[in-house]
Amino acid sequence: MDYLQIEGGKKLSGTVEISGAKNAALPLIASTILSKNVVNISNIPNVKDIRTLLNLLNILGANFWYEKNRAKIDTSFITSTTAVYDIVRTMRASILVLGPLLARFGHCEVSLPGGCAIGQRPIDLHLKALSLMGAEIEIKNGYVLTKAKKALKGTHIIFDKITVTGTENIVMAAALAKGTTTIVNAAKEPEVIQLCEVLKKSGVDIEGIGTDELKIVGTDRELLNFEDFSVIPDRIEAGTYLCAGAITNSKITIKKCDPNHMDAILTKFTQMGFDLKIKDNEITILPAKKIYPIEIITSEYPGFPTDMQAQFMALSLKADGTSIIEERLFENRFMHVSELMRFGANIHLKGNIATINGPCKLYGADVMATDLRASSALVLAGLTAKGTTKVHRIYHLDRGYENLEKKLKNLGASIERLKE
Ligand code: EPZ
Repeated sequence: MDYLQIEGGKKLSGTVEISGAKNAALPLIASTILSKNVVNISNIPNVKDIRTLLNLLNILGANFWYEKNRAKIDTSFITSTTAVYDIVRTMRASILVLGPLLARFGHCEVSLPGGCAIGQRPIDLHLKALSLMGAEIEIKNGYVLTKAKKALKGTHIIFDKITVTGTENIVMAAALAKGTTTIVNAAKEPEVIQLCEVLKKSGVDIEGIGTDELKIVGTDRELLNFEDFSVIPDRIEAGTYLCAGAITNSKITIKKCDPNHMDAILTKFTQMGFDLKIKDNEITILPAKKIYPIEIITSEYPGFPTDMQAQFMALSLKADGTSIIEERLFENRFMHVSELMRFGANIHLKGNIATINGPCKLYGADVMATDLRASSALVLAGLTAKGTTKVHRIYHLDRGYENLEKKLKNLGASIERLKE
């Protein structure tokens, strides 16, 4: 297994290019199941989760070509609708094939994703909505068995909780349903918006894009004609590199980002005392004279994203005072706390609230990644800790960050990928 070795204390400088958003590319790749033509996608991040989903489509019978952040996907030869446990257990976002497969073929068997480090993460809302659309659903031997004798029927759906992949699954199912589906309490993350925009351009009548109420007029199993499209920039990767500049008190610029997707994140940087220069698709962060403590409550978009919580916790270790972070989306998304404490962090946990008493003197340590975003927080702490840090189990990082160590090294960090 690989690990990252970081010599802390280096100032960073220069620019870093942001990759396409993993969490936009995943539903978009799943949506190609709804297409009658070969789909050309550009600006796809070269990360493990993308390769896993493309591999799953291939196992179902689809063909694809994937190179240099571009993919051509042809799903006309899909012969199977079973998403097997071996794949789904490595990436829960595989559940995104459920809606499109069921809508197109009238049946689908997907392994239950199982829990994950950050929480139980059930899919009850996905299944409840699909059964309202006429699907018969059975849970057997760890699989969700679904079938719909006729086309799924358009219906009125109210989500009890806002769910990103739940909204995406139902939007894709509704695209091929017979009749109109309205989704109330829909997620409106930029990644959900891009999926709706791409489906709309491919022939699906969708209203309310970007709001919490979507109206989708289904094509009654008439397959769609996708136009070529490019994946939106990754707002979480962008926020992570701004944290790298902030935590090392450096001036760096991130390029190929979309500041319009990052309001809640950028506001927190300014509240902590960092100046930002924003121009089109570039953001420059400048060192803070004094780093102020911060209060963060994670919530659905456009609120502060849970996927940036761990990174800001690492940054708050440098703040001059007590920061409070409340995690409201997942029940166990503080796995990075005990690892950050190995650097010397002073953090107290009470339920889903973390109190961080900064500034903390941080010393390099051996630490272990536990989930994708937690691992990036450990790298951030290693960039500023005195001495050598080794971040183990970085397969978590490789799921969602393209060339992380190369991008950080280009900014001047002392970071190497080594073998255990
Ligand atoms: C998406 O996960 C993202 N993944 C996550 O990013 C992100 O953290 C999360 O949204 C929240 O923004 C992808 O887009 C591939 P949810 P998702 O359904 O869709 C509960 C990363 O780092 N819930 O919006 O699985 C659930 O338990 C990943 O890239 C139900 O109770 O999240 C959670 O508490 C990590 N029943 C809350 O809703 C359901 O049927 C939000 O979950 C579905 C969800």
